[in-house]
Amino acid sequence: MNESIFILKGNIVYSKNTKELEIHPHSYLVCEGEVVKGVYEMLPSKFEGVPVIDYGDCLIIPGLTDLHVHAPQYTFRGLGMDMELLEWLETNTFPEEAKYKKLEYAREAYGIFVKNLKSGATTRACVFATVHRDATLFLMDELEKSGLVTYVGKVNMDRNCPDYLREPSAEVSGLETVEWIKDVLHKKYKNTMPILTPRFTPSCTDELMENLKKIQLYYQIPVQSHLSENPGEIDWVKELCPWSEFYGEAYDRFGLFGADCKTVMAHCVYSGEDEIARMKENGVFIAHCPESNMNLSSGIAPVRKFLEKGLKVGLGSDVAGGSTENLFAAMYHAIQASKLRWRLKDESLKPLTAEEVFYMATKGGGEFFGRTGSFEEGYEFDAVVLDDRRLEHPQELDVKARLERMIYLADEREVCAKYIRGKEIKLV
Ligand code: GUN
Ligand code: FE
Repeated sequence: MNESIFILKGNIVYSKNTKELEIHPHSYLVCEGEVVKGVYEMLPSKFEGVPVIDYGDCLIIPGLTDLHVHAPQYTFRGLGMDMELLEWLETNTFPEEAKYKKLEYAREAYGIFVKNLKSGATTRACVFATVHRDATLFLMDELEKSGLVTYVGKVNMDRNCPDYLREPSAEVSGLETVEWIKDVLHKKYKNTMPILTPRFTPSCTDELMENLKKIQLYYQIPVQSHLSENPGEIDWVKELCPWSEFYGEAYDRFGLFGADCKTVMAHCVYSGEDEIARMKENGVFIAHCPESNMNLSSGIAPVRKFLEKGLKVGLGSDVAGGSTENLFAAMYHAIQASKLRWRLKDESLKPLTAEEVFYMATKGGGEFFGRTGSFEEGYEFDAVVLDDRRLEHPQELDVKARLERMIYLADEREVCAKYIRGKEIKLV
């Protein structure tokens, strides 16, 4: 039998679609090479002799994808939340991100970020770094060592930020980005990929956007940014780009909004019908970041509408707009936020369910990375084993109820093993 086949045994749960879970109690999950071979309640005889790792009564779920997280902001998570976006950027974010000019600071800070991301249930992430090339490469080295699969972006910003952080021109920002990509390609990482990261329209000139499109076309790499997060931000984009019908056009005009260029946009709290239609047409992924949207009083995105219209939606922690990298928290925050939106704003959009948020955290966001976030045959083998014994209960609970409790109660303490692309990741 092939050396690279192994089997995990436990209570296996994954999403069939946004509404339905596949649940297989006390079953076998077969990994061949780096992909899922199948899930079986009775192990077929052809797998006789294949090593089985028995996780007893644990739950086994697909790895979680964080579609939007700021690595340099991890240092001030849980701090300074009494502001809206633009003031928060000026007061907390830009001064902190400036510190990453010094590699020594980056080493310490990014070391903590990667250590904690590695020990939780996240297996994949789209990560913002800062404008600094050296620090961004260091972060990528550390992520590569961790075994996590990530897209990481050196941030671009050439206007509307303090001098100490602003790149001197669109040209320099573009050149630095090219040099950074060359460095990344030279490293030949297996699991760590570059992603173009114009911070958001207010911090990027038209000329910079044009440069980034040229780079995108040449290197064929995806794009991440922010979209329609906050009313003040949206008004500002209207002033900066009077030609745009809606915020998303300020990216689409430059070819940085899906279509031939894989794109993930964080937030979309205020996306109107035109913007939603364009995202659907262009296949733009939405990173829903409910905790950040509450902390920065941004609002609540109409996620049910996105799902009903068939848009691609995943979850983001948006640390440090969000306080935690724990995506179980993102799941229950998404449910809770949707309930308030339904009650207070729009009764036509029913609250999100546990099945829907689990889908977004696994298969929905995972799609940005390809066939990821499910245990269907041929998906990349990312699995998280959860031991929920800490959360005692006197009554019987079935696997579905235990998963539901995980959404509200789990953190890295429940994660007892993690596999990415068929390889076990040491949690500490
Ligand atoms: N928009 C531009 N930059 C940021 C950021 O760092 N965090 C959030 N939440 N929104 C942004
Ligand atoms: Fe963000």
